[in-house]
Amino acid sequence: MMNKIETLLKNFSEFWLHFFPEAGTLDRQQVLTELDDADFGRDSTRPDCQLVSYQNCVATVYGAYEQARFQVAAMGHILRSVRQFPAGGTLVSLGSGPGSYELWLLLNSQLGKVILVDHSSEMLARATSIAKEIGVADRLQTICTDATQNSIPPHTADVIFSINALHWSSGWRAWLREAARVGKPDAEVFISCSLLHPRSNITPDQFGQATREYFNISKFDMVVPPRQMPDGQTAVSSRFFFAGTKKR
Ligand SMILES: C[S@@+](CC[C@H](N)C(=O)[O-])C[C@H]1O[C@@H](n2cnc3c(N)ncnc32)[C@H](O)[C@@H]1O
Repeated sequence: MMNKIETLLKNFSEFWLHFFPEAGTLDRQQVLTELDDADFGRDSTRPDCQLVSYQNCVATVYGAYEQARFQVAAMGHILRSVRQFPAGGTLVSLGSGPGSYELWLLLNSQLGKVILVDHSSEMLARATSIAKEIGVADRLQTICTDATQNSIPPHTADVIFSINALHWSSGWRAWLREAARVGKPDAEVFISCSLLHPRSNITPDQFGQATREYFNISKFDMVVPPRQMPDGQTAVSSRFFFAGTKKR
């Protein structure tokens, strides 16, 4: 018998595979090579705004670029650690990409509205198209801008997300400040990032310290546990998350 969270995760996994089917037809390594991921993406030293065209290309192959196991693991942490998605409440997501988590939550929680902020118009176009298909477009707002330059009024969000995005910016601390600014006091928060990513080089200590400035942390952990590989090596993912609430 599956428990409630396992059932929800199965549903989310099917949602992901349906709306982001590229993993079924494209090879991830080839996608990264074709995107020139190292030069235009992870190792690029260009300012954030000059990564938009790269992110627009990523959007078209997002299901092969991102991995299902990370999406499902992150959703598992969200479902286990975000205490509530208030009825009629607003979720704001910074660096939302195509909004997989947020759109699924619009369908599967009592949230009233989702605001997605991303500087890639193609990522947001993909989110809008999914929202239309699942009948939640009237509850979705997209804002195409730098995550730290959005025009969302203070104290808008009941729930604040920033999932696997802020490490793309050396100005990542401003993302946390922004997440806190748009959140209501006590707002639920779930933020993840890849530590030691070349574009930001965030250490675990820095991430922990910076987050505690604005948020009460209830959980701080790896998104996926270390994995034993067939060659005997252990693969350790650098994706970390914290969940908690905005300080009053
Ligand atoms: C790896 S994707 C993650 C997307 C989504 N949150 C997820 O977990 O599926 C990172 C996203 O951050 C966005 N991003 C990167 N830098 C940004 C910035 N300075 N302002 C707004 N969005 C940004 C990219 O366009 C991309 O959609």
